[in-house]
Amino acid sequence: MSLEPSFSLVAAEGAILEEILDLTHPVWGEGLDRAAYGRYNAAQLRTPWGSSHLRRVALIDEEGRWVSTAKRYDLRVRAGGREVPALGIGALFTRPEARRRGAASALLRALMTAGEQEGARVALLFSEIGTRYYERFGFRAVPVTQTVLDLAGRPAAAPPAIPMRSGESTDLASIAEMNEGQAKGFPFTLLRSPEYVGFAIAKKRLLAASGATGRRKVEFFVVEEGGRAAAYAVVLEVGDRWMVTECGDRDPSGARVGALIEAMLSPPGTKVARILAWLPPNFLPPQLRVLWRERPAVTMMAAPLGGFALEVPPGNQVAWWHADAF
Ligand SMILES: CC(C)(COP(=O)(O)OP(=O)(O)OC[C@H]1O[C@@H](n2cnc3c(N)ncnc32)[C@H](O)[C@@H]1OP(=O)(O)O)[C@@H](O)C(=O)NCCC(=O)NCCS
Repeated sequence: MSLEPSFSLVAAEGAILEEILDLTHPVWGEGLDRAAYGRYNAAQLRTPWGSSHLRRVALIDEEGRWVSTAKRYDLRVRAGGREVPALGIGALFTRPEARRRGAASALLRALMTAGEQEGARVALLFSEIGTRYYERFGFRAVPVTQTVLDLAGRPAAAPPAIPMRSGESTDLASIAEMNEGQAKGFPFTLLRSPEYVGFAIAKKRLLAASGATGRRKVEFFVVEEGGRAAAYAVVLEVGDRWMVTECGDRDPSGARVGALIEAMLSPPGTKVARILAWLPPNFLPPQLRVLWRERPAVTMMAAPLGGFALEVPPGNQVAWWHADAF
């Protein structure tokens, strides 16, 4: 691993982890109190997918003190027509008194070298600090669009009569199949296994459950057909803002998921000012209309590893759900 000689990389556990959580809580606490933030982080690592694909690491300096930290995710993507392992990097953080001495740079390089040695061919991250810093490590912005949506017609007086029910773990295989069908044709996309889909949904549910009662709500519904999920939607509700974190439909027109979202909106008293989604470019259920498109608050970026020929696709060829930002 190419580290500056005085630095070493360790798993962030015990006292180091507690201090990392103390310092990152003001940045990524999402309104949770400190104890709930700790539980939310720990619970993600205990999920079946998280326990084998998600780790938090720390960079230790010559004095034995941790200086920088990040999360790493083991993912798979389809890029340039090939399915390859990918390294996801999240929550990059340097303790304030150690900043501007290259600690985060050393950690990024170490993670990328380790990822490459383990077979990853693409590194991915979601930047909250623009693109310049990460460009020097070979990352390029991947254009993801956030769509602001509205119902195309007036809300139905009665909910559409569709066979909808709460989603369950037994639906994950059908959902992963739907995701695969929907992602076909996109040159750059995340490959979502049933376990990964379970993680993505669990993460949103854990966040909602960790916070103050009623502040965030997560709804996961499926439309059933022939005993299987034929469409689904996961919605994160924060006040009157709805983020469709992911959805899918066996029918490419999206008519069933559109009906499902309409039904989710129809209970009396439901007030929604904004419906947001990172919709795949070719996908718009007929019940919804686009008000406008905007850039999300974070910038997705990708870098090639191990000499991989990575071409960053144009915006109309990137399908990436909000649920898959880390
Ligand atoms: C971003 C961060 C990890 C950099 O850590 P670091 O160890 O100081 O990084 P390095 O020494 O390798 O590089 C320093 C460079 O980072 C860049 N940088 C730091 N903060 C930045 C910001 N908010 N916006 C843009 N660039 C930033 C600058 O180019 C800086 O160089 P400069 O101070 O000479 O201008 C650290 O500032 C941090 O923990 N910030 C709070 C958490 C955060 O925003 N993380 C990034 C999430 S995407």
